Amino acid sequence: MLEGKRINLRIIEKEDLEIYNKWINDINFVGEFIFIRQQSLLETEKRMFGEHSADNASFIMEKKDGTRIGVVLHFLSKLGFLDLVEIGYMITPEERGNGYCSEAVEIIVDYLFILKDIHRIQALIVEENVASQRVLEKNGFKKEGIIRNVGYIRGRDRDGVLYSIIREDWGQPRILTGV
Ligand SMILES: CC(C)(COP(=O)(O)OP(=O)(O)OC[C@H]1O[C@@H](n2cnc3c(N)ncnc32)[C@H](O)[C@@H]1OP(=O)(O)O)[C@@H](O)C(=O)NCCC(=O)NCCS
Repeated sequence: MLEGKRINLRIIEKEDLEIYNKWINDINFVGEFIFIRQQSLLETEKRMFGEHSADNASFIMEKKDGTRIGVVLHFLSKLGFLDLVEIGYMITPEERGNGYCSEAVEIIVDYLFILKDIHRIQALIVEENVASQRVLEKNGFKKEGIIRNVGYIRGRDRDGVLYSIIREDWGQPRILTGV
């Protein structure tokens, strides 16, 4: 368990499969800027637990009372011959705007820089997703540039914005200070 101030991140377990599958099949949950491809419980289970490793993991965001409110994940992302560490996150619509995702990103960034000998963490966001960009900027991520036509989402091609934080920007743990 990774403990923050108002939320904790807990590695996803089989008991979370149902809620997670419900979330990612819910158009309101994934929001306007993520694919809405529907997937079965079986497919979700394979994706969640088939490739689970230190390189590829999903965490449930929980409030301190144990209420599950969202997910934050990290995975290896290919850039040419390079494997780069990327993060993503989603939170239930009723809990948005409370600063929870910003805290989740703060925790996962600390965790990854403490865990791994890596020099950068990146996130690729649809250009119109202003809230998500704000979450990254609040955590010290810098905008690197536009990736044109990165994906076909909700009926049209979208441009993406690539953000990163490098180890020098991060410096030292910000929230996981007790580890
Ligand atoms: C994007 C998302 C993760 C943000 O989560 P959240 O918990 O609401 O984020 P926070 O409350 O920590 O911070 C959101 C920030 O964006 C700002 N914001 C929200 N909507 C905005 C908008 N339309 N325009 C400008 N800023 C906006 C908020 O004011 C806040 O900034 P502040 O703290 O400076 O006021 C959430 O909206 C979500 O789950 N969306 C659907 C999935 C998604 O798009 N995930 C990201 C792609 S990887």
